[in-house]
Amino acid sequence: MEDLQSIKAELSGLISKAQDGKALEEARVAILGKKGRITDMMKALGALPVEQKKEMGKSLNILKTEIEAELEAKKAEIETKELNARLASEMIDVTLPIRQEKQGRIHPVSKIYEEVTAIFGQMGFEVADGPDIEDQFHNFNALNTPANHPARQMQDTFYVTNPESDNFDDSYVVRTQTSAVQVRTMEKKQPPIRIIAPGRTYRSDYDATHTPMFHQVEGLVIDKHTTMAHLKGCLYDFIKAFFELDEIPVRYRPSYFPFTEPSAEMDIGCLKSKTELKIGAGNDWLEILGCGMVHPNVLKACGVDPDEYQGFAFGLGLDRLAMLKYGIPDLRDFFASDVRWMKHYGFVPLDEASMTGGLSNNGGAAR
Ligand code: DAH
Repeated sequence: MEDLQSIKAELSGLISKAQDGKALEEARVAILGKKGRITDMMKALGALPVEQKKEMGKSLNILKTEIEAELEAKKAEIETKELNARLASEMIDVTLPIRQEKQGRIHPVSKIYEEVTAIFGQMGFEVADGPDIEDQFHNFNALNTPANHPARQMQDTFYVTNPESDNFDDSYVVRTQTSAVQVRTMEKKQPPIRIIAPGRTYRSDYDATHTPMFHQVEGLVIDKHTTMAHLKGCLYDFIKAFFELDEIPVRYRPSYFPFTEPSAEMDIGCLKSKTELKIGAGNDWLEILGCGMVHPNVLKACGVDPDEYQGFAFGLGLDRLAMLKYGIPDLRDFFASDVRWMKHYGFVPLDEASMTGGLSNNGGAAR
């Protein structure tokens, strides 16, 4: 058997020469693998006389343990070196300016949300909210739409099982309308009230202009002398500000909603051609929102005295407004998570909508 001291020096040299994980593994195999140096020496022990075998076996075991420790230490050293190199190569200098092509985009719905809140915010409205999963009281009953009311059929409702009750009337809904927030607001606060409630709404519907999840904004104004004239003025100002036009033809058509009396739908003037839709001119009309004077039954259900207070409400579809304002043809694409679509229709992040700084900036999608 060779001199163990010099063998150890040789093997240690092999280990310390290894520069990376692969080289170290090769060294390990050469020493401890099936045909490795130490393994070979262990095998050769069998041929030695008993006394020598014992002696040599002990020394070899010590050598093996020492070499294994060296391998372990080297492995840790290499891993630390590799990690440090990786961290250095992945370092991000947060002080560098943003690279144009790496920028994310603001979704058109978020943009419209900002625009609508900026406009109503300047008129003195507060933003209110409520849960997406509602009980039937807030989504329907308090809005003058009790169970079996025919108007419930106007909306294709998704019901959610109530784990605590088998009675269908107790089941929850994913809210079909942000009107539910009217109820929540009046329950919490006595008039004067002036709120908008933007949020997600859900109905079982799917085509180019309907998706099962969509966005609405609800508006509610309650005070002692709030009239239909206030409603008309408020919505007229809103629509002009929103479409960034000085004049825009508007008409109100009588309509029906269970929670308002009288109820109306607001149309705006436009020009429809095969290739284009121009808002604010022409002989065509486009339905834009529903509105009306809050029904006394709604006030009563929310704890507001209808002999003392009255007011108006309105509801509009955010997605539809985005489609109209920015010429986006299919609603389903809004929620397809397609980066190419976002690049095309999205907005640069720092152009926040405001009444002083500009709504959509230059009147179009700022890209
Ligand atoms: N909640 C109605 C809908 O989803 C929209 C609406 C119409 C809201 C008239 C109102 C309103 O507040 O007064 O179709």
